[in-house]
Amino acid sequence: MTNVWKPVLGSSDEPLYLAVVRALAQDIETGVLSPEDRLPTHRELADSLGVAIGTITRAYSIGEQRGLIYGDGRRGTFVGELRRRAAALTALTDTKPAVIDLSANYPSPSEDPDLSSAMRRLARHPDVQQLLRYPSPQSPRPHREAGVRWLERLDLTVEPDDIIITAGAQHALMVIMSTIARPGDVVVTEEYTYPGLKAIGDLLGLQVVGMGCDDDGPRPDVLDEVCRKHRPCAFYTVPTLHNPTNITMPIERKRDLSAIARRYRLPVIEDEIHRALVPEAAPTFTELIPDLGIMVASVSKVIAGGLRVAFVVAPPRFRQSMLDTLHAITLVVSPIPVEILARWINDGTAAATVERRRTQARRNHALAATALDGHRFRAAPTSHFVWVPLPDPWTNAAFTAEAYRRGVAIAPSEVFAVDTAAAGSAVRICLSAADNRELLTTALETVGAILNSTPRRDSTTI
Ligand SMILES: Cc1ncc(COP(=O)(O)O)c(C=O)c1O
Repeated sequence: MTNVWKPVLGSSDEPLYLAVVRALAQDIETGVLSPEDRLPTHRELADSLGVAIGTITRAYSIGEQRGLIYGDGRRGTFVGELRRRAAALTALTDTKPAVIDLSANYPSPSEDPDLSSAMRRLARHPDVQQLLRYPSPQSPRPHREAGVRWLERLDLTVEPDDIIITAGAQHALMVIMSTIARPGDVVVTEEYTYPGLKAIGDLLGLQVVGMGCDDDGPRPDVLDEVCRKHRPCAFYTVPTLHNPTNITMPIERKRDLSAIARRYRLPVIEDEIHRALVPEAAPTFTELIPDLGIMVASVSKVIAGGLRVAFVVAPPRFRQSMLDTLHAITLVVSPIPVEILARWINDGTAAATVERRRTQARRNHALAATALDGHRFRAAPTSHFVWVPLPDPWTNAAFTAEAYRRGVAIAPSEVFAVDTAAAGSAVRICLSAADNRELLTTALETVGAILNSTPRRDSTTI
């Protein structure tokens, strides 16, 4: 193509970025654009169409996801070799709008450590074949030693024999619950909780009881009452950057809750999946009540979820039965991803990754503070998400539907509520889930605009 591409956008009322993607797909299909044609830069196309640069960034990003185009660093953006043209066009006619998905809590891929060089280095190691042998359920000692170093970063001093390695926190919770709870038992947790805990409760036939919280986390008086009434077999909590409310428990609250746990001999399962993001978090329950605290330290939100690794520290009396349960459920955890993680912990890559994620989280929160200015929301400088109570008269359903209609997916409070019928109006928005800064800004501005508006009457619903 010799001329600079300028799409014809038509007059439908679909969002502009979608109109650009549609024009892109049509022009490729009809031969206006050919493979390897260079597309205008984001700025050039935004200027020639008279639209915001974020609109073009978003359109190109979706075009890339659909295989229509590809970016080649500084050389620019090019039309791809479309092997699945029909599929790409079908995706466009899909009734589901393309969305910026801020509904899931995962760390930004842009700050991920370099897996390919880690795998190349590992491949060159003379003992690499050893990783194909079954390890013991307890995992190889060097991997647990790396766990000791990781937990030191989280201010917990342990020995390698104190650590059980699991395939992530969800696996750890399944192993722990299967070990200490029996069908019908009560597990108490925050009124909003990590949905995976609810799923395990359903699977194992447990009664999950949600308890009232204030700005410092679960209320000690409520825990006391639940213990008296229900005699729970465990208290599950996310003490640092609680998912979804962002509360981090101060030390006084942990002491008060520990006193109650002691009184009722209540095991406290502390899910410290976000702890590495917070430079000076209060001491862990495992330190405060070592005979009752069970700490789960997954690396999913701070290094990478695809590794599937968590380090678990439990009181000695639970250890062997937890290893037996792990063996029954999984036999053993694969040593291959743990080896990659252990190398990253030992050579400083893990620490550097956490630092990058913290820096990025701070930048993302600055964007959120601007876009949501004037509205109530709970943030923390290094958290991956914000929790936004909705102003009247917005309901979760109306708000999330409107956000989705405008191209942003977010998670409503019911996803996290133990008692879904009692869920208040609030949403969780994951800032780290956006592909880049422009998309995040567009998404946050969209949410800000909806917060400033009132629900529209939907004349299309009958
Ligand atoms: C609080 C909490 N715990 C556990 C998990 C699951 O972690 P993993 O990927 O290590 O299984 C998540 C994932 O979102 C989470 O938010």
